[in-house]
Amino acid sequence: MASRTTARIYRGTPRNLRRLANALRAGELVAVPTETVYGLAANVWDFRACANVFEAKGRPSTDPLIVHIRLLGELHEVAVANDAALALARAFWPGPLTLILPKRATVPDIATAGLPSVAVRMPAHPLFRRLLKAADVPLAAPSANRFGYISPTTALHVQEGLGQHIRYILDGGSAAIGLESTIVDLRNPRQPRVLRPGAISAAQISAVLKRPVRTKHGQPSAASAAAQVSPGQMLRHYSPRTPLTLHSSLTLEAARRAPHEAWIFLRTPAGLRKGDANIRSFSRRGTLEEVAHRLFAILREVDAGRWRAIHAELPLPDAGDLAAAIRDRLHRAAAR
Ligand code: TXA
Ligand code: MG
Repeated sequence: MASRTTARIYRGTPRNLRRLANALRAGELVAVPTETVYGLAANVWDFRACANVFEAKGRPSTDPLIVHIRLLGELHEVAVANDAALALARAFWPGPLTLILPKRATVPDIATAGLPSVAVRMPAHPLFRRLLKAADVPLAAPSANRFGYISPTTALHVQEGLGQHIRYILDGGSAAIGLESTIVDLRNPRQPRVLRPGAISAAQISAVLKRPVRTKHGQPSAASAAAQVSPGQMLRHYSPRTPLTLHSSLTLEAARRAPHEAWIFLRTPAGLRKGDANIRSFSRRGTLEEVAHRLFAILREVDAGRWRAIHAELPLPDAGDLAAAIRDRLHRAAAR
């Protein structure tokens, strides 16, 4: 039998939502679906619940959590908002955008890893929003994976990774976007800066703020990882256990010469045969949205196989901001 799991997966019935909301209010942890990835939620006002999030994930206490709110008014309960934050909130919330702002003193230090700033996001997933409404408190939630491993995009992923550490998982289907939210640092609203690329692009943010937005996309360098502009943005992250090598293009011939290694194409290659058991693709239709949606699930699936190595194809560097976000995750997953 597989390792023991204490976690139960709940469908989003009104009764279950009430039950999970009560658990949250009582200081328990609940894994929740979001449109980006699954999160591991705790009542933000409950110091002990927040501490348990770090414990369950095996996450260092230096890596702060994201506070999830349901209504714009709640932003002021946890953060000191500025005009830039309100403009971005109106444009992109609910949605995959996280804002870094000065924190209110009432937010427990453990949630922000002792920083004077706090990360805030208003999620769009309808079930998570219903749970937030029923719980009636902001919820601190990092991604619901063991620290450093691939982020979860289904309830089963959460159960595989955290099943022995938590009791409640709310099933909201497979996460629509599949990549974590874009993080924008707005502590200085005149110098907005993207700390983590995601589905909302720097160009979209720049258009709303009517000023340039700094990014540090492209291949994350060891030097930038060492500088740790954003805590927790270390180079090695989202990593499969099997060694991963990245390629700017792949061929069927190369994949067939190494049948004990898994080869993941960006798009299902023409000429694929039934016997090509070591070949996968991030997308069937060939869109970057589909690559993002399936990225973590495919990496997990392949990592669970008995392959000696994994090879994955990168989107082109000049293919836009979503491609940059996908490249960012793949580079971190491949870092040793
Ligand atoms: O899409 C998402 O953002 C998902 C879902 C669950 O909402 N959450 C997520 O959380 O990706 P997590 O913990 O895996 O990543 C949050 C990151 C941290 O690693 C940290 O780098 C950054 O947010 N962060 C949080 N608070 C911060 C702060 N005060 N200053 C700078 N970065 C911060
Ligand atoms: Mg994470």
